[in-house]
Amino acid sequence: MIGELEIRESAPGDMAGIVELYVEAFPDEDLVPLVRGLLALGREVISLVGIRENAIAGHISFTLCRVEEAAEKVALLAPLAVAPGLQKQGVGSELVRAGFAHLERAGIGSIFVLGDPGYYSRFGFRAEDKVATPYPLPADWRGAWQSLKLRDAKAPLAGRLSVPKPWRNAALWA
Ligand SMILES: CC(C)(COP(=O)(O)OP(=O)(O)OC[C@H]1O[C@@H](n2cnc3c(N)ncnc32)[C@H](O)[C@@H]1OP(=O)(O)O)[C@@H](O)C(=O)NCCC(=O)NCCS
Repeated sequence: MIGELEIRESAPGDMAGIVELYVEAFPDEDLVPLVRGLLALGREVISLVGIRENAIAGHISFTLCRVEEAAEKVALLAPLAVAPGLQKQGVGSELVRAGFAHLERAGIGSIFVLGDPGYYSRFGFRAEDKVATPYPLPADWRGAWQSLKLRDAKAPLAGRLSVPKPWRNAALWA
């Protein structure tokens, strides 16, 4: 188990720490432009940091989007990162669950994620085949596209996920 972890919405002053976190957690992938783009979206993004001993232990972002022209807003979970020295201590799980609580308060019913089912299935994510990713996925990634319904989920959704500009980059989906 982890010690004290405070989870709160990120603030502009957290940017340097969030950037450092992504550089360390993803040494082979540059997610910094995506993260900067998402944090500039304002209310379209729910961005949470986990703080432990006055330092950023983890970060998670949910982008609010729509499935084609459907009125219902949905959320795209990503990215998620935990500081390398603090992984496997529950920080990522706490951030995911805190995010769910934020989304429920905002009336969001469906969450989508492109990630390892070995990790995300523990939260209830299951393979998604009605709502398509904004760009085609490589065949061996199909099982990585998952969704989860929260309390306020409405009618089943079908179509292509429509994402804001920082996500309109085919390289993020390939
Ligand atoms: C993936 C990540 C966010 C998980 O956060 P975390 O705080 O380490 O994870 P938690 O402590 O909540 O959960 C730990 C469990 O997840 C598993 N896990 C951790 N990373 C995993 C991964 N990439 N794939 C599958 N399972 C993973 C652990 O084996 C552990 O399983 P157990 O409970 O059965 O022992 C974190 O390890 C990380 O930032 N990794 C580097 C960046 C990354 O790969 N991000 C992917 C999300 S976009």
